[in-house]
Amino acid sequence: MGALGRLLPSARALASVGERQGMALHFVLNTGAKIPSVGLGTWQSEPGVVGDAVYAAVKAGYRHIDCAQVYGNEKEIGFALKKVFDEGVTTRKDLFITSKLWCTNHAPEDVPVALDGTLQDLQTDYVDLYLVHWPIRMKKGAGFNPENVIPADIPATWAAMESLYDSGKARAIGVSNFSCKKVEELLAVARVTPAANQVECHPVWQQAKLRDLCASKGIHFSAYSPLGSPGTFKAFSVLEHPVVVSTAEKLGKTPAQVALRWGVQAGHSVLPKSTNEERIRANIDVYDWSIPGDLFAGFSEIEQAKLIRGKFWTHPEGVFKSEEEIWDGEI
Ligand code: A2P
Repeated sequence: MGALGRLLPSARALASVGERQGMALHFVLNTGAKIPSVGLGTWQSEPGVVGDAVYAAVKAGYRHIDCAQVYGNEKEIGFALKKVFDEGVTTRKDLFITSKLWCTNHAPEDVPVALDGTLQDLQTDYVDLYLVHWPIRMKKGAGFNPENVIPADIPATWAAMESLYDSGKARAIGVSNFSCKKVEELLAVARVTPAANQVECHPVWQQAKLRDLCASKGIHFSAYSPLGSPGTFKAFSVLEHPVVVSTAEKLGKTPAQVALRWGVQAGHSVLPKSTNEERIRANIDVYDWSIPGDLFAGFSEIEQAKLIRGKFWTHPEGVFKSEEEIWDGEI
């Protein structure tokens, strides 16, 4: 049995195929589809550079690209994908593409229109995974402002997502930024169980409770900001945390590789963003080595702190008056 199995039997069960040295190259969704364990994040990948980043990533072996309409770069990603397919670097069926429904498009009639826009931009007939980006609704067409938040109707939005799943345009559907409470509420009404919940996760915000819940319900857990988004949260560095740094020194790896390996070894997919070719290559080099059990155990001692608290959604007279309300107190 590999290191992963010794540490985390439940994660091992999920990571049933495609292994190198006990390390999951991909996980299996509740649809039966395989989701590659490392995907390229594209949040804050600016137009003008994101296309080259996607091209470099696929060339480097990435087979999972994480997109979203609100990132404003899907069109350029579509051109890059066309290029890799035209050049025969990979095929559409061997690439896993995720996108997300933005908060202004929660109305059931707007959901299929939003996906069609994304498909057109990405130059594809389907996405492998389509996520409700936030359990938060904004007025149609509204700008990003907490005063534009209106009460969500997740069951209605989810029913529209289920229709996309039925149509085959979304091969799997899921959610993002859902707390345990919101996952439970959705499961109570869902005809199609969400295939994934994509949330912030890294060694300093490990989400043990949410990971356990998702595992017990057959929902794949996927980590955004797996490096702690060092470009955005400069005062708070996952990559400078002493446990991450000392593990990296002992293993001869970079702190980023250790943070990513920790995530996949813990049993979930990770979505590091980079537009730098060297870092893109380094970030997928997490398969042929592992964090030994004693060092891995040290990660459970790390004091926890959430980075992305969602203050931007709150307003004194708004639907969400505090960060606690957004996350149902799970912060
Ligand atoms: P860059 O795009 O210049 O590489 P996250 O995925 O947690 O949101 O982190 C993304 C941020 O981390 C970006 O600012 C990205 O910058 C930076 N980054 C990506 N890979 C690495 C790495 N291997 N080492 C240090 N910083 C990295």
